[in-house]
Parts: sequence; structure tokens; C-alpha cells
Amino acid sequence: MEKANLDWSNLPFGYMKTDFHLEYYYKDGKWSEAKVVEKDTIELSMSATSLHYGQEAFEGLKAYEHKDGSVSLFRPEENARRLQKSAEKLIMVAPPEELFLEAVEKIVQLNKRFVPPYGTGAALYIRPLLIGISGMLGVQPSNEYLFLVFASPVGPYFKEGLKPLKFKIEEKMKRAAPGGTGDVKVGGNYAASLRVSRAARAEGFKEVIYTDAETNQYLDESGPANFFAISKDGNSYITPKSETILPSITNKSLMYLAEHDLELTVENRPVKVDEIYDFSEAGCCGTAAVITPIESLSFRDDTIVYTKDGKVGPVSQRLYDRLTGMQVGDVEDKFGWNRKVKLD
Ligand code: PLP
Ligand code: COI
Repeated sequence: MEKANLDWSNLPFGYMKTDFHLEYYYKDGKWSEAKVVEKDTIELSMSATSLHYGQEAFEGLKAYEHKDGSVSLFRPEENARRLQKSAEKLIMVAPPEELFLEAVEKIVQLNKRFVPPYGTGAALYIRPLLIGISGMLGVQPSNEYLFLVFASPVGPYFKEGLKPLKFKIEEKMKRAAPGGTGDVKVGGNYAASLRVSRAARAEGFKEVIYTDAETNQYLDESGPANFFAISKDGNSYITPKSETILPSITNKSLMYLAEHDLELTVENRPVKVDEIYDFSEAGCCGTAAVITPIESLSFRDDTIVYTKDGKVGPVSQRLYDRLTGMQVGDVEDKFGWNRKVKLD
């Protein structure tokens, strides 16, 4: 099948209609078979619990084309499990792991011509979405759910790609608090982050790094990605541990690569804001963000510059090369992270 006619190397991180999406319905205690749908709209009760009370959770993962034309998904089992955790927290019914895996494979098969060609730096982004669809007015969990999966070809979230960007530390506005939902992937967290991102952009920053809501003394993460840093001596990969950050699958992979491939010490622990003066490199990581190096981090009246003139720090670069090389099949997949999609 011919590929879609797109400017693959210059794709934004944006929505584009592809050929099909999938719908699975949970009703009367069981999940339906996949419904393959061509149009990209859904019909929904205007009193659905997802619309009024935010009873919704989602995921994000990518499919990559390899040099030999095969396509693989990166650690989709992890996304299946995280969706279950998100669903549990909002008292929703999540699709079983096998159903999730069937869906994400099927969505690639159905939209094969939208998988960006090898070497373009783009990927097919897959967005699984779980929403409460019962029409209700009281604040209560839905009885029925829609698990919907769509795909869109994308470039990196920050359009600059692997170019260091300016961030600030945000102490006043919060996206998550202890005991809340910051550790799961639910829409409300992103709604809460919109005004923060807008304010940061107005000040000339690409995004913020939040501090913890309780004490403001520790670093959490960014709105769409986890935070990591490299120690001054270049020997440690440091990334915050906090109950208000989303456990990133990219970060989990980077921690593993740092320890097992790059022989770095991994420090996954509460990270004090003051430690920003002790790092040699800093960055954000996530499926959409990939690795986004941080050029400078502004904190109150101070700005700490990690890198200049668009240069990427050496450890961030090595991690980037390993991770992305593995995802597109150029680096041996020795941990078994790629799941091949059956294509005919
Ligand atoms: N943190 C937040 C708040 C996110 O939305 C994401 C994106 O999914 C991440 C971190 C990165 O997670 P992952 O690497 O699993 O995509
Ligand atoms: C992802 O990285 O997959 C995400 O979901 C982040 C999102 C805010 C674009």
C-alpha cells in the first residue's frame, strides 16, 4: 500500500485524521468486539460522566518503522497497565491487557499508510482513550465505558526536536497534589496545566517544571513529560521520585539504559529544588517529548544555564541515541522492548 502523501520530516505534534479508529464498548459486565469506524466523531450522551465530571483516562504510545519496513510498538504492555491504574483511581472499568494490545496493534494495521517512513524522525502516535458514557447527573461512576483508539502521524512534541529549550520552575500554580491524581494519566491533570503553560509561554519559556504542592522544596515534573538531570561529574542520572508525577515509560526505559548500558548510577529519589545548581545537564522525557534537553532553568530571579548555542549535553545525547535507535531498530533490542506489529 502506498504511503500517505505527507511532509513526513516536518510533521507537527498535532491531530490528523487517519483512515480508521476503533471503538470497544463495556456494557453489562463485558467488552464488545472491536468496531472499526471511518469517521472521526462519536455520538455521546450529553450527560455522560466523562463530559461533566472528567471520568476519563488516556494513554500515548508510538509505532516506529524500521529500516527493513517492519513496524514496532514500544513497550505497549506498560501503557496497558498504566491505563488500568488510571482507571482504578477514577473507578472506571479498564480494558484487559490483551484487549489493549489487540487494539493498539490493529490501529497500526488499519492505518499502515500513515506510519511515517524510517529515517524521518516521525512516528505514528497512538492515543487510547477510556471514557465514562452513562448519562448521569449525580457525581458517581459510569456503568458503561467506551475504549476508543485512534492514531495520528506526528513529529516531536516540542517542534524544535532535539534542541535545548528554556524552562522555568513554577512554584505557585499546581497541576497535582498529594492524594490526588497526578500519578495517573487523566484529563483533569492536563486541564489544570493549561493556564500554567500559557503563562510560561507568555514569559518566553517553553514549559515549566512544577515543584511539589506540599512543601515547594522538591522538583516534580513538567506538564507533558518527566524531568531528569545529570550530575556534575557526569556519572549519575537523577530523576525525581514523587507521588504527584506520572510514572513515565520513557523515563523508566532511560533509567534502565542509564544503568545497564551507560553504566551510570541511577538516583530515583526526591530531588531538592536547590540541586539545580549541581547538575551538568537537564532535560524532559516522554513519548511525545522524546528527550528534550533543557537549555536553561529559571528559578525566581536566577537562571541556570546548562548548555548554549543549541548544543546537546553528552549524556543526554547518548541516551537519546540509544533510546531512539532501539525504537527504530538500529540498536539491538536487548531488553525485548519492541513489540512487532504483524503486517501483511
Ligand atoms: N508526565 C506526564 C504528565 C505526561 O503526560 C507524560 C506523557 O505521557 C509523561 C510524563 C511521559 O510518560 P511516557 O514516557 O510514558 O510517555
Ligand atoms: C505523551 O507523551 O504521550 C503524552 O501523552 C503527553 C501529552 C501531553 C502530549
